[in-house]
Parts: sequence; structure tokens; C-alpha cells
Amino acid sequence: MNFRRRDRKPDGPVSSDEKAEARILRPRRGHRLLSPKLILGLLVYFLVIIHFFERVRVKSAVNVCQWDNWEHWTGEKAENTPHRIAFIADPQLVDDHTYPKLPRLLSYILRRMSDNYLHTNYKFMQHYLDPDTVIFLGDMFDGGREWDDPMWLDEYKRFNKIFPKKANRRSIRSLPGNHDIGFQNIASHNVERFAAYFGEPNDFFELGNHTIVQLDTISMSHEDPAIHTPSRQFLSSLNSKINPTMPRMVLTHVPLYRDPNVETCGIGREKSRPFPLMRGHQYQTVIDFSYTLQILSQLSPEIVFSGDDHDYCDMHHVDYSDNSKTLAREISVKSASMTNGIKYPAIQLLSLNNPYDPNPKSKLASPDDTTTYKTKMCYMPTPYTGVKIYALSYLLAVGILVACIVYPELSWILAGFTEVLAALHG
Ligand SMILES: *[C@@H]1O[C@H](CO)[C@@H](O)[C@H](O)[C@H]1NC(C)=O
Repeated sequence: MNFRRRDRKPDGPVSSDEKAEARILRPRRGHRLLSPKLILGLLVYFLVIIHFFERVRVKSAVNVCQWDNWEHWTGEKAENTPHRIAFIADPQLVDDHTYPKLPRLLSYILRRMSDNYLHTNYKFMQHYLDPDTVIFLGDMFDGGREWDDPMWLDEYKRFNKIFPKKANRRSIRSLPGNHDIGFQNIASHNVERFAAYFGEPNDFFELGNHTIVQLDTISMSHEDPAIHTPSRQFLSSLNSKINPTMPRMVLTHVPLYRDPNVETCGIGREKSRPFPLMRGHQYQTVIDFSYTLQILSQLSPEIVFSGDDHDYCDMHHVDYSDNSKTLAREISVKSASMTNGIKYPAIQLLSLNNPYDPNPKSKLASPDDTTTYKTKMCYMPTPYTGVKIYALSYLLAVGILVACIVYPELSWILAGFTEVLAALHG
């Protein structure tokens, strides 16, 4: 590079002298310090990686779970249209209660990141899998049980922004978790507030010729009659209300009681330790045995779906008086959130197919035909990979820009390099 020093004018003012000095730093022919091509190159690079991590990767993760890849309905069911459900467990939106020790800025970044993760995955799941019904399994919020009404309403709006309802599709979000209403200390105001906005916590739905019973087992477990009466009454009066011929499924936020060393979790669980049986401040890892037994024996569900544990658990409840008899299968759905202590967040898909025959005598039941539901865990893209690449790229970009200011020649070498890359691409 040839930088040419201008001749000094003998009587020139001081300011022009300074201008001349400034020009020395710049390459000739009116070129600027940072090449626009370099800036453009970096910009394109960032657009490409953002597009990859926010779209391409999410789309391919969701498409792995396409219904046709795993439903495989056979016989007469192959011709029937199944009812398809997606379960989302424990989104537990990050808030000021989640990381009280973290600096505010970091906590804010983490909150935005996890909101974005939940929203993007949800959007792509809704678009590409298009389930008929989306069911949330509780713990919508992290500190929901602690907030006053204005704060709770703000978080409710935030929840609806992250998980907007889809037109012509059902969305059931009325099952409360212990983070929404508490466990040992439940204020009736919190239960009522949750129900007023999200819907009745104890309810049943007929979907895909199955009866889905949703139980607020948390309130049911509470010792105060004012809290437990609605849930207990609902359960004991259920049998007279629901269709006796349809297979049943139960939804509960907290999993039902099991002996973790005997009734073990199947494959798909991240942690190797047995399912925990614990009780602590505002939580309990399983529902007491007495309520568990009542639910299982009274409703005899085919399968129970629960949340709360954050990890996946697919197990069978056995009859303790006759260990060879299975009462029901239970799947604890993995958390969909990136901040819940698991490496691979997921959602659970359920396909219901039960062509209902009003005249059962003419039924030609082949042994293959007895299953009326199929279910599959669907992994979301691994969190933090994108974040790590973004952070690394950002540091690299800042490094390059600083280096180009310090060594202006570098800027032109890099710009030339991006030009070669662009030419190769074109
Ligand atoms: C439910 O039963 C009706 C009547 O047999 C049938 O037409 C419909 O396809 C069934 N739906 C599902 C999802 O099995």
C-alpha cells in the first residue's frame, strides 16, 4: 500500500493539518476504513446461521415426528382418520423467580431465549404436524402461585403470545400444576384465578372416540375441604357421566404413585436414577397411593399422561394384590422447556383411532385391532447449540472488525476473500 503524505502548506490553518493526518490512516482512492463488502459478508453470514438454527433445524426436527412415520394404522383403521393430539408439559416460563441470584441482564437474556425456543418449536409443530388438539399438562408458569393479579395477568398474556391458539383446532390448557397453584399451601384465589382464565381444572372430553378425564390431583390431595371437595366430588360422580364403552385416558399434572424400584421407567428417560419419591416446599413427586388407587380402580384408564417430573417416564402400574396384573400404563411427558434441567426437551404425540361400532356384536375383532391409541415422544431441536454458535460468531465478527480497524490492509484481504466465496457460490 502506498500512503502518500500531502505536502504541507506553509501558512495553512492547523485544522487542515489535522485533516491531512486523518487521511494518512486511510487507504487511497476514497476507500473507507471498513470495506462495505466485508460488512455485507458478515451480515449474510449471520442471516444464514440464524435461518438455519431458527427455521431449517426446527422444521427437520418436527418433520422427523410426522404422523405417517410412526402411526402405521392397519386394517380398517388405516382407512379411518385418527384424532391427533400433541401434549406439552411444563413450559414453566422463566420469570424473576426462576433465577433470583442471576444478574438481571443475564436473567432477561435467558428469559428471551427460552421464550423464543418454546414459541418457535410450537409454531413449527402447529404448522407441520397440525394436531387436532394441543393439551398442556400444567406448570405453565414458574412463579404463578406467588404473583398478585396484575403480574399474573401480564404473564398470562405472555403465555398466550408464546402459545397462540390455532383457528379450527382445539387447545386444552386448563390443567394446573404445582407452580401454578402450589401444593401444600394452596390459596383458593389462585385456583379460581387459574380456572377463570384457563378453564375448569376437573373436566372430561370426548376426543377420537376416547374419554379423556382431566383431574386436578393437586387440589384433590389437599387437606382443606374447601380446596379438595370439587375435585373429589368430580371424581366420585364421573362414572355416571362418561360413556362406558369408550376407552379412557387420564390427565394429571403430578404423576400417580408407583414403587420406583419395581414399576420402573422404560427407555427414553435421560436420568438413570429410579423415579424419585419426594415431598418438599410446594411439591410432591407423586400423588398419594390412596388417590392413585381410587383413580386407577374407578376409571380403569388405558393410559395416564402426566408431567411435573421434566424427564420422560413410560411405566406400568401393577395391582399390588396381584403383581402380574397391570392396572394402567402411565407416561410422564418430558418437559418442552430448555431451562428444566434436561438435555433434550420433547413433546408427546398421541394418535387416537377407534372406529366406534354402535352394534358391537358385528365386530370382527382381529388381535391386531385392539390398540386404539399410539403415542410417540417427539424431540425438539437440541437447545443451546444455536446459542453457542451465535455467541461464537458474534465474538469472531467483533474480533474481525477490530482487527480491520487496527490493520486496515486486512479489511481488503478479507473483502477479497468474501468476493471469492461469493463467486464460488454464484
Ligand atoms: C369414531 O367413531 C365413528 C363412528 O364409527 C367413526 O366414523 C370415526 O371415524 C371414529 N373416530 C376415530 C378418531 O376413531
